Amino acid sequence: MNNKEILKRLYKSYTKKYLKNIILAAFFSVTLAASTSAVAYLLDPAINELFINKSETLLYVIPFLIVLAFTIKGGSLYLAKIIMINVSEEVKKDIQIDMFASMISADTQLVDGKHSGKFVGNLMNDVNMIVNLISTAILNLFKDSLTLIGLLSVMFYQNWKLSLIAIIMIPLASIATKVLGKRMTKVVGEQMQRAGVLTSYLIEIFKNHKLIKIFQKESYERKRANDFINTLKESSRKIAIVFVRASPIMETITGIMIGFIIFVSAKLIMKDELQVGNFFSFLAAMMLAYQPVRSLATLNLAVQQGLAGARNVLPIIDDTNLIKDELGSSELNIKNGKINFINVQFGYSSDDRKILDNINLEIPGEKMTALVGHSGAGKSTILNLIPRFYNINKGEIKIDDQSIYKSTIHSLRKSISLVSQDTTLFDDTIKNNIAYANLDATQDQIEEAAKLSFADEFIKKLPKKI
Ligand SMILES: Nc1ncnc2c1ncn2[C@@H]1O[C@H](COP(=O)(O)OP(=O)(O)OP(=O)(O)O)[C@@H](O)[C@H]1O
Ligand SMILES: [Mg+2]
Repeated sequence: MNNKEILKRLYKSYTKKYLKNIILAAFFSVTLAASTSAVAYLLDPAINELFINKSETLLYVIPFLIVLAFTIKGGSLYLAKIIMINVSEEVKKDIQIDMFASMISADTQLVDGKHSGKFVGNLMNDVNMIVNLISTAILNLFKDSLTLIGLLSVMFYQNWKLSLIAIIMIPLASIATKVLGKRMTKVVGEQMQRAGVLTSYLIEIFKNHKLIKIFQKESYERKRANDFINTLKESSRKIAIVFVRASPIMETITGIMIGFIIFVSAKLIMKDELQVGNFFSFLAAMMLAYQPVRSLATLNLAVQQGLAGARNVLPIIDDTNLIKDELGSSELNIKNGKINFINVQFGYSSDDRKILDNINLEIPGEKMTALVGHSGAGKSTILNLIPRFYNINKGEIKIDDQSIYKSTIHSLRKSISLVSQDTTLFDDTIKNNIAYANLDATQDQIEEAAKLSFADEFIKKLPKKI
């Protein structure tokens, strides 16, 4: 997907339904721009009428208007931000729900091929970047460009010569932010990648803590963790420093601009081409324009990050399952559970070597069958094929003479139970763990299952017994 397609897709799937709210935020951006410009404009009559001409009639009017302008400015910004906070949290939730739904029903193949930590990173970090793009970036684009237009109008109204000088100098400021912005993109990307590595590592550590203990690799892992944490620290430090570096550069540039403007203004005032009031109003507008210019110059950063996030997230959401019901598949009808493998050929990836080649098996029903073989012989692989965790390349698998590929996946998996060697419990009540296969199980059925598995004794000893 190219950038335009990604943006279109994000708009259609996630932003469109909040269009009304966004338009409302855009409206508050207009009032924000108008009131900010009014603040700068009002300095002109304040100085010329009140300070120089000492007008009694305007003594109360102008200060009141200034208070009003600031109040509207603050209120507009507040409301626009609140609206966008609500939109972004909604969008974030929507994307995360879609991602989870896609991840939970993804083919085993896809989940195998990616570290679980990466999924966590996608769900937590990348989504934030996308949301930042469609909320903060959109709002900033509205409010900063409108505010800038308003302030430029005030500047030109006060004096066009000074305005031209300022406009020539504004790119100077934005070049500096742009350079820093580029560096920022680099360090932020680096940090995200490192944070992802650390997440994956932590998940691995907790999964394998027994292995680490038996091989006594605590100090080795501590060293590895130190390295990960240190590199992460290094990139966080870099980001913070790049941010701070912006201020001395910007302050110096601002100083140069203001100094030069004062020099030119003094000349204009001496020639009676400019009044003191106009000058201060102009200066205020120029200084107020600093924030939107800077914000617009770094807008690209948020956009690039959001696009990068979307490039990671959208493929997960859009992933289509290869393992799905064939057209016209029917319910699997179990009689005694005989399983046949007929000329089965299978490899974990299509181009890879064949793990199973031309396998023919008959596993009789109503009997206990054990598969015995060397490690890596393919026992687990054979088991994985029966509930269709993977599709075979060639051949046929039948249960009670019905092809599993012509049966619905639901009826197939309903007829199979899996007790994995590595038992896991969900972080939930024991009751819910027992009832996992059948969430509608009654209390009696659950207690019965607990008794049959000899779990009831230890459950009774627990403080809450659930
Ligand atoms: N998810 C996977 N992706 C790619 N190759 C795999 C995957 N799982 C297993 N294999 C490969 O398939 C082959 C058969 O592995 P399988 O796990 O079926 O053996 P096994 O007989 O169950 O071994 P063990 O007794 O150790 O459990 C091995 O060569 C293994 O490396
Ligand atoms: Mg195995």
